[in-house]
Amino acid sequence: MLWGLVTAYYILSYPEIRWDWKTIKADKVYFPNNFMWGTATAAHQVEGNNTNNNWYNWEHQKDSNGSPRIHNKDKSGIAADHWNLYNNDIGLMNDLGVKYYRFSVEWSKIEPEKGVINKDALDHYRNVCTALIDSGLTPVVTLHHFTHPMWFENLGGFEKAENIKYFIQFSEIVFNRLSDIVPIWCTINEPAVYVSQGYFNGVFPPGKRDPTLAGYVMKNLLNAHVRVYRHLKTLPNGDAAQIGLVKNITQFDPLRRWHVLDWYLSQRLNDVFNNNTINLLTTGQFDFYLPTMADIYFKNDNAINALDFIGLNYYSRMHVKGHLSPTAPFTFELRPQDTQTDMPYAIYPEGFYRAVKNISKLNVPIIITENGIADDKDDRRKLFIERYLYALYKSILDGYDVRGYFYWSLIDNFEWAEGYMMKFGLYEVDFITQERKLRPGSHAFSKIVNQPGADKRGYIVSIGEKAPELLLEYTDGRKIHLSDFRGKIVVLQFTASWCSVCIQEMPHLEKDVWQRFKDDGLILIGIDRDEPLEVVQKFQKKVGTTYPIALDPGAKHFSKFAHKNSGVTRNIVIDKNGKIVFLTRLFDKEEFQNMIDKIEFLIKQ
Ligand code: FCB
Repeated sequence: MLWGLVTAYYILSYPEIRWDWKTIKADKVYFPNNFMWGTATAAHQVEGNNTNNNWYNWEHQKDSNGSPRIHNKDKSGIAADHWNLYNNDIGLMNDLGVKYYRFSVEWSKIEPEKGVINKDALDHYRNVCTALIDSGLTPVVTLHHFTHPMWFENLGGFEKAENIKYFIQFSEIVFNRLSDIVPIWCTINEPAVYVSQGYFNGVFPPGKRDPTLAGYVMKNLLNAHVRVYRHLKTLPNGDAAQIGLVKNITQFDPLRRWHVLDWYLSQRLNDVFNNNTINLLTTGQFDFYLPTMADIYFKNDNAINALDFIGLNYYSRMHVKGHLSPTAPFTFELRPQDTQTDMPYAIYPEGFYRAVKNISKLNVPIIITENGIADDKDDRRKLFIERYLYALYKSILDGYDVRGYFYWSLIDNFEWAEGYMMKFGLYEVDFITQERKLRPGSHAFSKIVNQPGADKRGYIVSIGEKAPELLLEYTDGRKIHLSDFRGKIVVLQFTASWCSVCIQEMPHLEKDVWQRFKDDGLILIGIDRDEPLEVVQKFQKKVGTTYPIALDPGAKHFSKFAHKNSGVTRNIVIDKNGKIVFLTRLFDKEEFQNMIDKIEFLIKQ
């Protein structure tokens, strides 16, 4: 009985979000003008010749049964030879139309021995950054992406708090060399993945299976992030640099929604994998509790707000099945109804939206630092890209502060324990000839990157900006400033009597927006472009709308929002703080419906 109630509580509190993909036009997405589009890689996965780090060692080891550590006995080796071919690869980025590139610097190349700096390696990364900038791209640097030098690993790596200082020293050296030309920095990539794979599942180096140690390594990694963040901020360019942590979110959902054990364990896994990092950075408190396995708590007030942005990596969710076993209380299972990728991740765009919502609790701008699909046959990539980007677009419409998206990955690469079998690249790499070829499914990405954004369609304002001030004069002679409506949701409709699309749209504005929301305090104002009072009055009568209309002599209001010679039929939704939150152009039924959903969402807030 009690279990039943607990399960019912879970089911009601965490309803399964499912969107009706048959009715969604997933390629109709309009991202803001200044949205940061990019691709991502990591040093060890693409550069080649990393022979002095924890992964090199791992690739050359066997497990206790004599089996190789990496699928198919693969070794990273020369990888995609990105170390030498970076100029070519920058060309590939230009072909896609992206303007940002996230990559990591290889600590073991920069500091091959403790305290010994290889100047050439540092210069190499500076050359990469300069080449990017010369090609119109902005570099985004990750300081730790799963690999570090052997000497650091031999000292105990992040198992020991006293080793954090070495990572800080290394970070300072890189920052001093590059911070005048690199505006965005990621400290550590996915602490929770590093820990779960290296210390819980034992499939990444150092291959341990020790939940308590996993908790301590997590503590040290997060404290390392906090200390590096605080330290870099004190250096020259530190203030201007955007410095953040990269957080993988993977939701843990119950395999059997009616089963209390599946729910309970899913929640604990969400806590240790996802929520405790968010808690630490917002409250300074950290809990790592897994029943019968680990129970660690610490407090670090310095962690509160120790980031300028959060990098979100999102791929999919896991389905958890509970067992009454103290040694193996849960397993992860695939569901037959899901479309799988080549990794054990189902295609789950709704989860991307959930992840953005969850990470937004940090209250800092969100950059999607990784998202992509392993798809050797290239028969799911297009669908993946369109649906995940639709989910992201929807999250922006709903007010989440997402600033950019980096596709994982630019090129095929060494996918850690899975070796070269996983094909994440937008470009396929022939690892013998080092030739790169754009996969057909990747066109979906460049199409969205290059299509006009919501605010490229003649708009000069962007979503997220403050609406300009206007002194509006209604047809009945009343005068009012736009700013007088602060605290209310305002829709401005730009229209004209000669505009047939406007005439088509106006009855819908009347019925679905004005009549529906006016009693909730919504302000809707038509603004008629450059026509005399009598014409506007006649026009209003003819279309039969009852919401107020203001005059716009010389299109002076219009030209504060859009290029003067661009067309009317535009709606601008402004939130209670005077911020532009939605822009429409022409009368597209789906976009119009999205606007209504947005208004409804704002009213309910
Ligand atoms: C992430 C890693 C990245 C890549 C993708 C597929 O967890 O950060 O290096 O392996 O998964």
